[in-house]
Amino acid sequence: MESATMPHDVAIAFDHVAKRFSRTGGPAAISDLDFRVRTGEHVCVVGRTGCGKSTSVNLILGLTPASAGRVDVLGVDPYRDFKRLRGRIGCVFQSDRLLPWRTALDNVLMPLEVLHARNARTESEAADLLAKVGLAGYEHAHPHELSGGMRQRVAIARALITRPDVLIADEAFGHLDEVTAAALRADFQRIAKAQGQTVYQITHSLDEALLLADRILVFDRPGRVAGEFARAQWEAGGARQPVRETLRSLIAGGEAPSLQAVAGDRQVA
Ligand SMILES: Nc1ncnc2c1ncn2[C@@H]1O[C@H](COP(=O)(O)OP(=O)(O)OP(=O)(O)O)[C@@H](O)[C@H]1O
Ligand SMILES: [Mg+2]
Repeated sequence: MESATMPHDVAIAFDHVAKRFSRTGGPAAISDLDFRVRTGEHVCVVGRTGCGKSTSVNLILGLTPASAGRVDVLGVDPYRDFKRLRGRIGCVFQSDRLLPWRTALDNVLMPLEVLHARNARTESEAADLLAKVGLAGYEHAHPHELSGGMRQRVAIARALITRPDVLIADEAFGHLDEVTAAALRADFQRIAKAQGQTVYQITHSLDEALLLADRILVFDRPGRVAGEFARAQWEAGGARQPVRETLRSLIAGGEAPSLQAVAGDRQVA
């Protein structure tokens, strides 16, 4: 369904969206999500566990319908009309979800095979992408021959191979060591910016959000936006630490950050 009202510079819109999994009532996973992501914008979503972050990703991917309100991705209702979004959304999840019997190159080419677009030219593009994410020479390696960080690099290349308009990352760097995660974040952002992609990224790391995002949304339980910050706010002189503290406090549910929370990003979740 084409949206008549959606402005062209909006890539993702949640319009007072609610999501309940139980048909007979039960608690809402998302109660009232209302936000927009502009075309080319990099939005990071933070929030404690169970506040509906991954559910928002599933709604964007059209894997599940909204119970109320409206989700719009590139002018399309993703649940009702997912065919029109094929190849236009790339995803990276916490686990790499590679097919173990396929080589790195064949895994990267999967989304193109679904679109019947595998050919000599796209095979060479896939090899170029593997080189861009630091895996030149590993085209014919199988996942079990690669480290966790290398497998996640293959997953990033697979997400990028269709040159999607929208890139989704759900805790994509969460289980990697800090050095590997930092290198992957940098590559991920460099390629996404170069291709002008809109990025919707879920993370538990405030450092990652403050480093990558143009804007940070804080989700609260059950599924609503508790606060939002634009890069200019934390880049203003001396504002980074106060913004960081406010983010921590919002994630913790509006309470003062505990000593444990101050000790490390992942512990506030
Ligand atoms: N398929 C499902 N069926 C029933 N309930 C679900 C389903 N998926 C998610 N939920 C519920 O929805 C709520 C939000 O879950 P979601 O996975 O979106 O949280 P999250 O913010 O991604 O958490 P985390 O930070 O732990 O990944 C939770 O209470 C969860 O139990
Ligand atoms: Mg999640």
